[in-house]
Amino acid sequence: MNKTKITGIGHFVPERVVTNFDLEKQMDTTNDWIIERTGIEERRWVEPGVGTSDLAVEASKRALAMSGLKPKDVDLIVFATLTPDYAFPGSSVLVQKKLGMDHIGAFDITVACSAFIYGISIGDQFIKTGQAEIVLVIGAEIQSTGLDASSAGRDMAVLFGDGAGAVILQKSDSESEILSTHLHVDGNFHKELWAEVPTALENPRISKELLDAGRHYPRMNGREVFRNAVTRFPQVINEALDANGLSIADVALVIPHQANLRITQMVAKRLKIGMDQVYSNIHRYGNTTAASIPIAMSEAYSEGLFKKGDIIILAAFGAGFTWASAAIRW
Ligand code: ACO
Repeated sequence: MNKTKITGIGHFVPERVVTNFDLEKQMDTTNDWIIERTGIEERRWVEPGVGTSDLAVEASKRALAMSGLKPKDVDLIVFATLTPDYAFPGSSVLVQKKLGMDHIGAFDITVACSAFIYGISIGDQFIKTGQAEIVLVIGAEIQSTGLDASSAGRDMAVLFGDGAGAVILQKSDSESEILSTHLHVDGNFHKELWAEVPTALENPRISKELLDAGRHYPRMNGREVFRNAVTRFPQVINEALDANGLSIADVALVIPHQANLRITQMVAKRLKIGMDQVYSNIHRYGNTTAASIPIAMSEAYSEGLFKKGDIIILAAFGAGFTWASAAIRW
Protein backbone atom coordinates (compact mmCIF):
# COMPACT_ATOMS: atom_id res chain seq x y z
CA MET A 1 0.00 0.00 0.00
CA ASN A 2 1.35 3.46 -0.93
CA LYS A 3 1.57 6.33 1.51
CA THR A 4 0.08 9.71 0.56
CA LYS A 5 1.52 13.15 1.21
CA ILE A 6 0.42 16.69 0.48
CA THR A 7 2.90 18.37 -1.86
CA GLY A 8 1.08 21.62 -2.61
CA ILE A 9 -1.44 23.98 -1.00
CA GLY A 10 -2.99 27.17 -2.31
CA HIS A 11 -5.93 29.40 -1.70
CA PHE A 12 -7.77 32.23 -3.40
CA VAL A 13 -10.41 34.63 -2.11
CA PRO A 14 -12.34 37.31 -4.02
CA GLU A 15 -10.99 40.86 -3.75
CA ARG A 16 -14.21 42.42 -2.49
CA VAL A 17 -14.11 42.82 1.30
CA VAL A 18 -17.49 43.09 3.06
CA THR A 19 -17.10 44.34 6.62
CA ASN A 20 -19.63 44.09 9.42
CA PHE A 21 -20.11 47.85 9.01
CA ASP A 22 -21.08 47.28 5.36
CA LEU A 23 -23.70 44.76 6.55
CA GLU A 24 -25.01 47.26 9.11
CA LYS A 25 -26.07 49.42 6.15
CA GLN A 26 -27.88 46.51 4.48
CA MET A 27 -29.70 44.85 7.38
CA ASP A 28 -30.64 45.27 11.01
CA THR A 29 -27.40 44.07 12.60
CA THR A 30 -24.37 45.51 14.38
CA ASN A 31 -20.63 44.99 14.26
CA ASP A 32 -20.71 44.26 18.00
CA TRP A 33 -23.43 41.57 17.69
CA ILE A 34 -21.50 39.78 14.94
CA ILE A 35 -18.11 39.96 16.65
CA GLU A 36 -19.43 38.90 20.03
CA ARG A 37 -21.40 35.90 18.66
CA THR A 38 -19.03 34.74 15.89
CA GLY A 39 -15.64 36.52 15.90
CA ILE A 40 -16.20 37.56 12.26
CA GLU A 41 -15.00 41.05 11.30
CA GLU A 42 -15.17 40.81 7.52
CA ARG A 43 -15.69 38.31 4.72
CA ARG A 44 -15.08 38.20 0.95
CA TRP A 45 -18.03 38.19 -1.43
CA VAL A 46 -17.68 37.73 -5.19
CA GLU A 47 -18.66 40.23 -7.83
CA PRO A 48 -21.56 39.14 -10.08
CA GLY A 49 -20.64 36.68 -12.80
CA VAL A 50 -17.91 34.84 -10.87
CA GLY A 51 -18.46 31.10 -10.41
CA THR A 52 -17.26 28.70 -7.73
CA SER A 53 -15.08 27.00 -10.35
CA ASP A 54 -13.35 30.36 -11.05
CA LEU A 55 -12.21 30.61 -7.43
CA ALA A 56 -11.24 26.93 -7.51
CA VAL A 57 -9.10 27.35 -10.63
CA GLU A 58 -7.03 30.12 -8.99
CA ALA A 59 -6.51 28.12 -5.79
CA SER A 60 -5.60 25.04 -7.85
CA LYS A 61 -3.00 26.97 -9.87
CA ARG A 62 -1.32 28.02 -6.63
CA ALA A 63 -1.33 24.48 -5.22
CA LEU A 64 0.07 23.11 -8.50
CA ALA A 65 2.81 25.77 -8.52
CA MET A 66 3.90 24.79 -5.01
CA SER A 67 4.12 21.15 -6.15
CA GLY A 68 6.04 22.10 -9.29
CA LEU A 69 3.33 20.43 -11.40
CA LYS A 70 1.28 21.39 -14.46
CA PRO A 71 -2.50 20.91 -14.80
CA LYS A 72 -1.94 18.06 -17.27
CA ASP A 73 -0.04 16.09 -14.58
CA VAL A 74 -3.23 15.70 -12.47
CA ASP A 75 -5.12 12.43 -12.88
CA LEU A 76 -8.10 12.95 -10.54
CA ILE A 77 -10.08 15.96 -9.27
CA VAL A 78 -12.18 15.78 -6.12
CA PHE A 79 -14.18 18.98 -5.73
CA ALA A 80 -15.75 19.62 -2.30
CA THR A 81 -18.59 22.15 -2.51
CA LEU A 82 -22.25 22.66 -1.70
CA THR A 83 -22.43 25.69 -3.98
CA PRO A 84 -21.45 24.44 -7.46
CA ASP A 85 -21.74 26.78 -10.46
CA TYR A 86 -24.75 24.82 -11.77
CA ALA A 87 -27.25 22.28 -10.47
CA PHE A 88 -25.44 19.82 -12.73
CA PRO A 89 -22.90 18.89 -13.97
CA GLY A 90 -20.57 19.41 -11.02
CA SER A 91 -17.94 22.14 -10.87
CA SER A 92 -15.11 19.58 -11.13
CA VAL A 93 -15.81 19.31 -14.88
CA LEU A 94 -15.44 23.09 -15.21
CA VAL A 95 -12.06 22.98 -13.47
CA GLN A 96 -10.96 20.22 -15.89
CA LYS A 97 -12.02 22.41 -18.82
CA LYS A 98 -10.68 25.74 -17.51
CA LEU A 99 -7.27 24.29 -16.62
CA GLY A 100 -7.05 22.39 -19.94
CA MET A 101 -6.56 19.04 -18.22
CA ASP A 102 -6.66 15.63 -19.86
CA HIS A 103 -9.83 13.49 -19.85
CA ILE A 104 -9.23 12.43 -16.26
CA GLY A 105 -11.72 11.41 -13.57
CA ALA A 106 -13.39 14.29 -11.76
CA PHE A 107 -16.35 14.57 -9.40
CA ASP A 108 -18.00 16.82 -6.83
CA ILE A 109 -18.84 15.81 -3.29
CA THR A 110 -21.59 17.41 -1.19
CA VAL A 111 -20.67 16.92 2.43
CA ALA A 112 -21.06 20.57 3.52
CA CYS A 113 -18.43 21.80 5.98
CA SER A 114 -16.83 18.34 6.30
CA ALA A 115 -16.45 17.90 2.54
CA PHE A 116 -12.80 18.89 2.25
CA ILE A 117 -11.71 16.21 4.75
CA TYR A 118 -13.93 13.67 2.97
CA GLY A 119 -12.12 14.77 -0.24
CA ILE A 120 -8.70 14.25 1.35
CA SER A 121 -9.82 10.82 2.50
CA ILE A 122 -11.03 9.86 -0.99
CA GLY A 123 -7.84 11.14 -2.63
CA ASP A 124 -5.76 9.28 -0.07
CA GLN A 125 -7.47 5.98 -0.96
CA PHE A 126 -6.80 6.54 -4.69
CA ILE A 127 -3.09 7.17 -4.06
CA LYS A 128 -2.77 4.33 -1.53
CA THR A 129 -4.17 1.77 -3.96
CA GLY A 130 -2.15 3.12 -6.91
CA GLN A 131 -5.34 4.05 -8.78
CA ALA A 132 -4.09 7.65 -9.14
CA GLU A 133 -0.71 9.34 -8.85
CA ILE A 134 -1.61 13.00 -8.56
CA VAL A 135 -4.93 14.06 -7.03
CA LEU A 136 -6.20 17.62 -6.86
CA VAL A 137 -8.56 18.10 -3.90
CA ILE A 138 -10.45 21.39 -3.90
CA GLY A 139 -12.74 23.04 -1.36
CA ALA A 140 -14.55 26.06 -2.83
CA GLU A 141 -17.76 27.94 -2.14
CA ILE A 142 -19.76 30.95 -3.17
CA GLN A 143 -22.19 31.45 -0.31
CA SER A 144 -22.91 35.15 -0.88
CA THR A 145 -25.25 34.70 -3.86
CA GLY A 146 -27.41 32.25 -1.86
CA LEU A 147 -28.00 34.38 1.22
CA ASP A 148 -30.91 36.62 2.15
CA ALA A 149 -28.89 39.78 2.80
CA SER A 150 -31.90 41.67 4.22
CA SER A 151 -32.89 41.85 7.89
CA ALA A 152 -35.07 38.77 7.43
CA GLY A 153 -31.97 36.67 6.70
CA ARG A 154 -29.53 38.38 9.09
CA ASP A 155 -29.00 35.33 11.30
CA MET A 156 -27.36 33.43 8.39
CA ALA A 157 -26.18 36.26 6.11
CA VAL A 158 -23.59 37.61 8.55
CA LEU A 159 -21.88 34.23 8.95
CA PHE A 160 -20.82 33.16 5.48
CA GLY A 161 -18.18 34.12 2.94
CA ASP A 162 -16.74 33.03 -0.41
CA GLY A 163 -13.36 31.47 -1.17
CA ALA A 164 -11.39 28.47 -2.32
CA GLY A 165 -8.48 26.30 -1.26
CA ALA A 166 -6.79 23.32 -2.89
CA VAL A 167 -4.17 20.68 -2.17
CA ILE A 168 -2.18 18.26 -4.29
CA LEU A 169 -1.85 14.68 -3.06
CA GLN A 170 0.99 12.45 -4.25
CA LYS A 171 2.72 9.22 -3.27
CA SER A 172 5.13 9.68 -0.38
CA ASP A 173 8.58 8.13 -0.10
CA SER A 174 9.42 10.10 3.05
CA GLU A 175 8.03 10.40 6.56
CA SER A 176 5.44 12.93 5.30
CA GLU A 177 2.10 11.15 5.28
CA ILE A 178 -1.64 11.35 5.75
CA LEU A 179 -1.74 9.15 8.84
CA SER A 180 -5.50 8.60 9.02
CA THR A 181 -8.92 10.02 8.21
CA HIS A 182 -12.16 9.48 10.12
CA LEU A 183 -15.56 10.24 8.59
CA HIS A 184 -18.98 10.37 10.27
CA VAL A 185 -22.59 11.36 9.66
CA ASP A 186 -25.88 11.41 11.58
CA GLY A 187 -28.72 12.10 9.13
CA ASN A 188 -31.25 12.55 11.93
CA PHE A 189 -30.12 16.18 12.05
CA HIS A 190 -30.44 16.95 8.34
CA LYS A 191 -33.07 19.66 8.89
CA GLU A 192 -31.08 21.51 11.56
CA LEU A 193 -28.83 23.11 8.94
CA TRP A 194 -30.04 22.91 5.37
CA ALA A 195 -31.22 24.50 2.14
CA GLU A 196 -34.39 22.71 1.12
CA VAL A 197 -35.03 24.10 -2.37
CA PRO A 198 -34.63 23.27 -5.25
CA THR A 199 -36.00 19.89 -4.18
CA ALA A 200 -36.90 16.71 -6.05
CA LEU A 201 -39.91 16.45 -3.71
CA GLU A 202 -41.63 19.36 -5.50
CA ASN A 203 -42.64 19.69 -9.14
CA PRO A 204 -41.46 22.16 -10.28
CA ARG A 205 -38.44 21.94 -8.02
CA ILE A 206 -38.46 25.68 -7.56
CA SER A 207 -41.51 27.94 -7.89
CA LYS A 208 -42.67 31.44 -7.03
CA GLU A 209 -44.44 30.04 -3.93
CA LEU A 210 -41.27 28.32 -2.72
CA LEU A 211 -39.21 31.44 -3.41
CA ASP A 212 -41.74 33.71 -1.69
CA ALA A 213 -41.58 31.44 1.37
CA GLY A 214 -37.77 31.78 1.34
CA ARG A 215 -37.32 28.02 1.27
CA HIS A 216 -34.32 28.34 -1.04
CA TYR A 217 -32.28 30.12 1.64
CA PRO A 218 -30.10 28.13 4.02
CA ARG A 219 -31.66 27.74 7.46
CA MET A 220 -30.06 26.75 10.74
CA ASN A 221 -30.96 25.86 14.28
CA GLY A 222 -27.94 27.72 15.68
CA ARG A 223 -28.15 26.34 19.19
CA GLU A 224 -28.44 22.71 18.02
CA VAL A 225 -25.47 23.23 15.69
CA PHE A 226 -23.44 24.76 18.50
CA ARG A 227 -24.31 22.00 20.97
CA ASN A 228 -23.37 19.21 18.56
CA ALA A 229 -20.29 20.95 17.13
CA VAL A 230 -18.59 21.42 20.50
CA THR A 231 -19.08 17.69 21.21
CA ARG A 232 -18.23 16.24 17.80
CA PHE A 233 -15.09 18.33 17.13
CA PRO A 234 -13.18 17.12 20.24
CA GLN A 235 -14.53 13.59 19.76
CA VAL A 236 -13.26 13.25 16.19
CA ILE A 237 -9.93 14.93 17.03
CA ASN A 238 -9.43 12.44 19.88
CA GLU A 239 -10.36 9.62 17.50
CA ALA A 240 -7.51 10.76 15.19
CA LEU A 241 -5.07 10.96 18.10
CA ASP A 242 -6.04 7.53 19.49
CA ALA A 243 -5.78 5.86 16.06
CA ASN A 244 -2.17 7.02 15.81
CA GLY A 245 -1.06 6.60 19.42
CA LEU A 246 -0.66 10.37 19.76
CA SER A 247 -1.56 12.84 22.46
CA ILE A 248 -2.69 16.41 21.86
CA ALA A 249 0.75 17.59 23.05
CA ASP A 250 2.27 15.92 19.95
CA VAL A 251 0.21 18.14 17.66
CA ALA A 252 1.80 21.31 16.24
CA LEU A 253 -1.51 22.74 15.06
CA VAL A 254 -5.20 21.84 15.00
CA ILE A 255 -6.85 23.33 11.89
CA PRO A 256 -10.61 23.20 12.41
CA HIS A 257 -13.36 24.15 9.98
CA GLN A 258 -13.92 27.85 10.63
CA ALA A 259 -17.56 27.69 11.75
CA ASN A 260 -17.61 30.28 14.50
CA LEU A 261 -14.89 31.58 16.84
CA ARG A 262 -16.94 30.62 19.91
CA ILE A 263 -17.13 27.02 18.70
CA THR A 264 -13.34 26.97 18.10
CA GLN A 265 -12.66 28.44 21.55
CA MET A 266 -14.92 25.88 23.21
CA VAL A 267 -13.19 23.05 21.31
CA ALA A 268 -9.76 24.33 22.46
CA LYS A 269 -11.05 24.46 26.03
CA ARG A 270 -12.40 20.91 25.87
CA LEU A 271 -9.09 19.66 24.40
CA LYS A 272 -7.28 21.60 27.15
CA ILE A 273 -5.09 23.46 24.65
CA GLY A 274 -4.44 27.16 24.10
CA MET A 275 -5.71 29.10 21.10
CA ASP A 276 -2.09 29.28 19.87
CA GLN A 277 -2.41 25.54 19.06
CA VAL A 278 -5.67 26.03 17.11
CA TYR A 279 -5.70 28.01 13.87
CA SER A 280 -8.35 30.67 13.39
CA ASN A 281 -8.83 33.12 10.53
CA ILE A 282 -12.61 33.43 10.75
CA HIS A 283 -12.28 37.15 11.56
CA ARG A 284 -11.08 37.73 7.98
CA TYR A 285 -13.24 35.34 5.93
CA GLY A 286 -16.29 34.29 7.92
CA ASN A 287 -17.46 30.72 7.38
CA THR A 288 -16.52 29.53 3.89
CA THR A 289 -17.92 26.00 4.40
CA ALA A 290 -15.89 23.42 2.39
CA ALA A 291 -13.23 26.03 1.59
CA SER A 292 -12.46 27.02 5.17
CA ILE A 293 -10.00 24.23 6.02
CA PRO A 294 -7.82 24.47 2.89
CA ILE A 295 -7.78 28.29 3.15
CA ALA A 296 -6.78 28.02 6.82
CA MET A 297 -4.17 25.35 6.04
CA SER A 298 -2.70 27.43 3.25
CA GLU A 299 -2.45 30.54 5.43
CA ALA A 300 -1.07 28.64 8.43
CA TYR A 301 1.59 27.09 6.19
CA SER A 302 2.55 30.51 4.77
CA GLU A 303 2.78 31.86 8.31
CA GLY A 304 5.26 29.05 9.18
CA LEU A 305 2.98 27.54 11.83
CA PHE A 306 3.89 23.99 10.83
CA LYS A 307 6.95 22.54 9.12
CA LYS A 308 8.33 19.24 7.87
CA GLY A 309 7.79 16.42 10.36
CA ASP A 310 5.10 18.27 12.37
CA ILE A 311 1.77 16.63 13.16
CA ILE A 312 -1.31 18.62 12.18
CA ILE A 313 -4.93 17.64 12.71
CA LEU A 314 -7.74 18.81 10.43
CA ALA A 315 -11.25 18.62 11.90
CA ALA A 316 -14.70 19.53 10.64
CA PHE A 317 -18.35 19.56 11.64
CA GLY A 318 -21.30 20.67 9.54
CA ALA A 319 -24.66 20.10 7.89
CA GLY A 320 -25.92 16.53 7.90
CA PHE A 321 -24.73 16.48 10.60
CA THR A 322 -21.34 15.36 9.33
CA TRP A 323 -18.01 15.43 11.11
CA ALA A 324 -14.52 14.27 10.19
CA SER A 325 -10.82 14.50 10.98
CA ALA A 326 -7.48 13.91 9.29
CA ALA A 327 -4.13 13.38 11.02
CA ILE A 328 -1.18 14.44 8.88
CA ARG A 329 2.57 14.25 9.39
CA TRP A 330 3.78 17.17 7.25
N1 ACO B 1 -27.68 40.77 14.08
C1 ACO B 1 -28.37 41.19 15.15
N2 ACO B 1 -29.24 40.41 15.80
C2 ACO B 1 -29.42 39.16 15.34
C3 ACO B 1 -28.74 38.66 14.23
C4 ACO B 1 -27.84 39.53 13.58
N3 ACO B 1 -27.13 39.17 12.51
N4 ACO B 1 -29.13 37.40 14.02
C5 ACO B 1 -30.01 37.09 14.96
N5 ACO B 1 -30.21 38.15 15.78
C6 ACO B 1 -31.07 38.27 16.94
C7 ACO B 1 -32.16 37.25 16.97
O1 ACO B 1 -33.25 37.67 16.19
C8 ACO B 1 -32.48 37.20 18.45
O2 ACO B 1 -33.29 38.27 18.75
P1 ACO B 1 -34.49 38.11 19.83
O3 ACO B 1 -33.81 37.73 21.11
O4 ACO B 1 -35.12 39.47 19.83
O5 ACO B 1 -35.36 37.03 19.30
C9 ACO B 1 -31.14 37.45 19.11
O6 ACO B 1 -30.30 38.04 18.12
C10 ACO B 1 -30.49 36.17 19.60
O7 ACO B 1 -30.60 35.21 18.57
P2 ACO B 1 -30.09 33.77 18.78
O8 ACO B 1 -30.27 32.98 17.52
O9 ACO B 1 -30.63 33.23 20.06
O10 ACO B 1 -28.57 34.10 18.93
P3 ACO B 1 -27.48 33.23 19.56
O11 ACO B 1 -26.93 33.95 20.72
O12 ACO B 1 -27.90 31.81 19.70
O13 ACO B 1 -26.39 33.31 18.41
C11 ACO B 1 -25.50 32.00 16.62
C12 ACO B 1 -26.67 32.85 17.09
C13 ACO B 1 -24.25 32.89 16.55
C14 ACO B 1 -25.77 31.47 15.23
C15 ACO B 1 -25.31 30.88 17.65
O14 ACO B 1 -26.47 30.12 17.75
C16 ACO B 1 -24.19 30.03 17.33
O15 ACO B 1 -23.05 30.35 17.63
N6 ACO B 1 -24.47 28.86 16.71
C17 ACO B 1 -23.47 27.98 16.23
C18 ACO B 1 -23.75 27.72 14.82
C19 ACO B 1 -22.87 28.44 13.89
O16 ACO B 1 -22.15 29.37 14.15
N7 ACO B 1 -22.92 27.96 12.69
C20 ACO B 1 -22.09 28.44 11.67
C21 ACO B 1 -22.45 27.79 10.43
S1 ACO B 1 -22.66 26.07 10.58
C22 ACO B 1 -21.21 25.30 10.49
O17 ACO B 1 -20.29 25.76 9.88
C23 ACO B 1 -21.03 24.04 11.21
